[in-house]
Amino acid sequence: MEKYIINGGNKLYGNIKIQTAKNSVLPILAATVLTDGKVKILNVPRITDVKNMVKILTCLGCKAVYEGDDIVIDSSCADCYEIPSALAHELRSSVFLLGSVISRFHHAKIAYPGGCDIGLRPVDLHLSGLKKLGVQITERNGYILCKCDRLRGEEIMLDCPSVGATENIMLAAVKAEGITVIKNAAREPEIEDLQKFLNGIGAKIKGAGSGTIVIEGVKKLTGTNFLPISDRIEAGTFLIAAAMCGGEVCAEGICAENISSLLHKLKENGCKISINNDKIVLENHKKLVSVKSIETQPYPGFPTDLQAQITALCCISEGHSIITENLFETRFKYIPELRKMGADVTVIDRNAFVRGVDKFKGATVIAHDLRGGAALVLAALAAEGKSEILDISHIDRGYGAFEYKLRDLGGDIVRVSV
Ligand code: EPZ
Repeated sequence: MEKYIINGGNKLYGNIKIQTAKNSVLPILAATVLTDGKVKILNVPRITDVKNMVKILTCLGCKAVYEGDDIVIDSSCADCYEIPSALAHELRSSVFLLGSVISRFHHAKIAYPGGCDIGLRPVDLHLSGLKKLGVQITERNGYILCKCDRLRGEEIMLDCPSVGATENIMLAAVKAEGITVIKNAAREPEIEDLQKFLNGIGAKIKGAGSGTIVIEGVKKLTGTNFLPISDRIEAGTFLIAAAMCGGEVCAEGICAENISSLLHKLKENGCKISINNDKIVLENHKKLVSVKSIETQPYPGFPTDLQAQITALCCISEGHSIITENLFETRFKYIPELRKMGADVTVIDRNAFVRGVDKFKGATVIAHDLRGGAALVLAALAAEGKSEILDISHIDRGYGAFEYKLRDLGGDIVRVSV
């Protein structure tokens, strides 16, 4: 076990190079199982979820070799269609492998996926989409067993624009016979990035980023070198940190359009934001004004993955805010921890009612999930006094070199073993 020790109160100044997006790299790693060609993914973030996904690929018989910050995957020797349950439980994105493993082997076996404990996280839309493509699915003893004679294109309407279900169906449809149309598809930038990667290895997909994606099945796929998009959630996290601590921070290598919903709220808060190509500069030297309401929505609405971080900002802004979490049932687990730091927040169902206080006070708090843990770090950096953040393995799942990047900006944060 490890923890962060943070002495709050420092302003943050400097530039931060944004890592490639966790939620783009993970489905792309799953997609490498589709092809016998060698795939090099560039600038892969050193985070636990990526390491675990690579372990799963290795268990399937794929060769995975790190070359500096890049990783080379060769799936030509893949010979196993069972995803190890211990690893499947480690990360949600293990479920994305269903589509590509079924496409390759016409069989797949996986335990129910793990990931952040932020809600029920069903996979019914994944499974119903795969069934429409011709997959026979049995759920038994905590496993999902899949088999098919062949995959054939179909029109699939998603009940909700699920990111994972959209990606899983895309992967299964790449080499299916005929045309697959996904309606009410998720529109996240990571979906467009997956389309770009798949077309780069020979797939024929269009429409990602809109609500309708069309996949024309192909027979042959090749290899490629690919640089995934930058992590809009990491960028948003650092910009919110600068807003909370005060100072001036430049997030480099990020497309502002991908976090425009956050930038609008931060401007409403009173932050000064300037955008120059792939650089976003946030400057703040004063007490921020509370944003009246924030509702998480599928892209391009306000991202649920920045809900905890923006709530922490609202806790030390002037006035009242209501934050509504529309995507996940239990994504407020970090609130009792913020209360230990002096936050005045009441949670009723999917709403957090926040009354801004002057400052957070340092305390010992526990990270319960990835983004809630990051929010606690931001609160501690802005707090008066010393804090300890326990169980930071949750944070390591999605933020590479987090404490190093924050220290480079002037934050007083160290990682120690417990
Ligand atoms: C992806 O999770 C991301 N994870 C999540 O990021 C992100 O919060 C989420 O999309 C929403 O943007 C990865 O990409 C690895 P969903 P996913 O399917 O695919 C319901 C992070 O912090 N639903 O879009 O699991 C579900 O209950 C993580 O980086 C069904 O009902 O999210 C939820 O209410 C956390 N049936 C809503 O859809 C299904 O079969 C959105 O879930 C699937 C989902």
